[in-house]
Amino acid sequence: MTKLARRTWLAAAWLLVAGLLLAPAAGAQGTVTVLCSPSVVWCDVLKDEFPKATGINLEYIRLSSGEGLARLRAEKDNPTFDVWFGGTGDPHLIAFREGLTEFYKPSSWDDLVPAFREVTGETYLPLYAGILGWAVNEQMLNSMGLPIPRTWKDLTAPVYRGLIAMPNPNTSGTGYTMLATILQIYGEDEGWKLLRDLHFNVAQYTRAGAEPGLLAGRGEVAIGVTFMHDALHQAIQGFPVTVKAPADGTGFEIGGLSLVRNGPNREAAIRFIEWALSPEAQVLAAQRGESYQLPTNVNTPLDERSPRFSDVRVIPYDFEHWGDPAVREAVVSRWTNEIYPIPRPRN
Ligand code: F6P
Repeated sequence: MTKLARRTWLAAAWLLVAGLLLAPAAGAQGTVTVLCSPSVVWCDVLKDEFPKATGINLEYIRLSSGEGLARLRAEKDNPTFDVWFGGTGDPHLIAFREGLTEFYKPSSWDDLVPAFREVTGETYLPLYAGILGWAVNEQMLNSMGLPIPRTWKDLTAPVYRGLIAMPNPNTSGTGYTMLATILQIYGEDEGWKLLRDLHFNVAQYTRAGAEPGLLAGRGEVAIGVTFMHDALHQAIQGFPVTVKAPADGTGFEIGGLSLVRNGPNREAAIRFIEWALSPEAQVLAAQRGESYQLPTNVNTPLDERSPRFSDVRVIPYDFEHWGDPAVREAVVSRWTNEIYPIPRPRN
């Protein structure tokens, strides 16, 4: 080999090694581990799109809101998640109050809907809003000669025995929002009585909040208690459900985004939060036909099909109170101990 050929070969070898060493750094800058509480399909969209936008890999585990809170509590001394994406607001607020998450002020702070920011304050970040309602299989009710329910109280009528599905408030944030909503509308005594009477009509308590709508869509039940945007998702997919809001009022969520305290990759978590609140990221769920909540960045285009506050009788949900760890504990335990075990009549 001539001197020149040897030099050229060495230079080429060096470039190859340097290229191999540099390539991973330029491609993926670590991994963010996300506790993801909306639907798996939306979590998959994050997994695909976040690396494209930032070069950072994303891993996630999908857990319902109540399960997510339990997981963060269990991992308090050794957190494995960097960030909690989505899920109802009450558990996010509780996680903050218990020191499991910390407040991070994003650069988009001033672009977040002021009414939501005022509620959450410097605790968790408002990611989206959703209104509680029902997915009603009207075909099924019509074929059975049954009326379409209008109010929460209507759901307790014996004609709906075995025809309702609702989420379990232990695992599901939607389920907890429903308990809190009924207790806020009807007060302690009447509210607990309503929940007990409703129990006799429930065919299935589901783990996740979107599942009752699926069951109604498949005709396994006639009424699924779920967020209206989840019912809408079923309807858009072609299942025979109508999106309904109870006429006696309903609650809502300010879905959360939180930085996990002492998570393994804080820098990546912050990049993720910045991205997740941008209009480019917020528009993805509806654009892909996966989710129809109301996004919180005022610059995010709104899907015209998303259920709106102005069309529904929404209660002034007391987030401060229902996001108190002791209140959640008391309400969920009472439901679990006093209502859930009561035997339900079979059809
Ligand atoms: O399916 C999406 C969604 O309804 C979110 O809007 C909500 O925050 C989350 O699911 C609640 O899920 P779960 O009731 O399973 O905790």
